[in-house]
Amino acid sequence: MGTLSQNWVILSIILLLALSTYSDASTKTKSTVKSAVFYSPKVDLSPGISSNKYYYDVKFPRGHIALKNFNGEAVDEDGNSVPLYEAYLHHWVVVRYHKPINSTSTDDNVIVRNAGVCQGDVLPQYFGLGAETRKTETHIPDPFGIEIGNPAEIPAGYEEKWLINLHVIDTRDVEDRWGCTECRCDLYNVTTDANGQPLSLGYKGGLQCCIDDAQCRLKEGYKGYNRTVYLKYTVKWVDWDDSIISVKIYIPGMTDTVKKSNGLNGLNVTHNCMIEYDIESCNTTRKHGTGCVNVTKTSFPLKKRGYVIYGVAHQHAWGLGSTLLWKEWEVICISLPKYGNGSKQEMRKAT
Ligand SMILES: *[C@@H]1O[C@H](CO)[C@@H](O)[C@H](O)[C@H]1NC(C)=O
Ligand SMILES: *[C@@H]1O[C@H](CO)[C@@H](O)[C@H](O)[C@H]1NC(C)=O
Ligand SMILES: *[C@@H]1O[C@H](CO)[C@@H](O)[C@H](O)[C@H]1NC(C)=O
Ligand SMILES: *[C@@H]1O[C@H](CO)[C@@H](O)[C@H](O)[C@H]1NC(C)=O
Ligand SMILES: *[C@@H]1O[C@H](CO)[C@@H](O)[C@H](O)[C@H]1NC(C)=O
Ligand SMILES: *[C@@H]1O[C@H](CO)[C@@H](O)[C@H](O)[C@H]1NC(C)=O
Ligand SMILES: *[C@@H]1O[C@H](CO)[C@@H](O)[C@H](O)[C@H]1NC(C)=O
Repeated sequence: MGTLSQNWVILSIILLLALSTYSDASTKTKSTVKSAVFYSPKVDLSPGISSNKYYYDVKFPRGHIALKNFNGEAVDEDGNSVPLYEAYLHHWVVVRYHKPINSTSTDDNVIVRNAGVCQGDVLPQYFGLGAETRKTETHIPDPFGIEIGNPAEIPAGYEEKWLINLHVIDTRDVEDRWGCTECRCDLYNVTTDANGQPLSLGYKGGLQCCIDDAQCRLKEGYKGYNRTVYLKYTVKWVDWDDSIISVKIYIPGMTDTVKKSNGLNGLNVTHNCMIEYDIESCNTTRKHGTGCVNVTKTSFPLKKRGYVIYGVAHQHAWGLGSTLLWKEWEVICISLPKYGNGSKQEMRKAT
């Protein structure tokens, strides 16, 4: 690894847990797997621009179904993959919500959270990754599936919808590509956060600096042109049937400062997922020791027992890997990112 300046790393882990027992796990699921490719609304980019937008009521499979697969990636107007060194896919998250049938205000929407474990409205999504999406396996094996669109779960007067929050940073012609992708405040023309409040003193980087429409500093005499990208997402599903075992989605955050105390009804666990964390800058002359590797851990109890069916970690550039452990020593799964060298050949191979 080269010189690491301040890095803001975002890490969350998606886990799918089957909570019921499945002694009879034979694949009874006979339904045919359906597949569809969707595109988000267009994202207009110009060199150095950060686009962090919310798209409501996006295209999504309808009906009472079980999702088997969800994969997203950034493509251009011809449907070709966009290299990460041109458009860094900071994150995409897909959120399920219930909308009052006649309402036009997004304030009336009720988000349907995943099963946990973060507090309140933090990390509520069903799916979400970023630059690491390409070549990431997302398949949920039979007899499991993520149940959605069950009419019995949709309150009367509401309909089920999906929203996508898509954050892309155009790094063409920028002065410092790593700085822009890691949202260093001194590179962006931002002095207030997304709510218009002045940035807190000492805040050096993170999501508050690469807000929607923020501009990252460009090289002298840049010549980049405007472009349009889309999130292309491929969804696979089967029609719901009673032989499918419904899995619950858990999205713990690496930054969660889990507090445990004895409450009235047994263990009281308070989560505080902060989404991002700051890693001290590292001096390259120490790169042969462990000085340039930061290891961060968090642990949390789960109220219910279950089987882990699928897991993947969301990691930003410079992330070296993530491991999910049971009882501090038993490895459940490992997510290791692959890094390219930014060549066109490699892009063609990757897609
Ligand atoms: C929505 O509006 C239509 C037309 O005004 C009305 O007929 C319908 O009952 C309304 N539905 C709900 C759930 O309020
Ligand atoms: C930053 O620059 C972009 C592009 O010029 C502009 O749209 C945006 O309003 C600017 N933001 C601030 C906070 O000045
Ligand atoms: C490129 O996009 C920016 C921001 O939307 C806009 O101000 C500018 O006029 C566009 N340039 C061209 C050449 O279309
Ligand atoms: C659980 O802990 C939180 C904060 O530590 C506290 O606010 C809350 O009242 C506690 N709940 C119970 C049931 O003890
Ligand atoms: C990793 O970074 C975190 C956040 O800055 C820090 O608290 C921790 O001590 C670091 N750990 C190591 C092993 O450097
Ligand atoms: C890196 O560390 C070495 C040895 O501790 C020191 O001599 C050097 O000045 C440091 N470089 C920077 C850029 O901090
Ligand atoms: C980059 O990767 C491609 C494909 O793996 C390879 O052909 C090329 O030689 C590499 N370039 C460099 C500079 O390492």
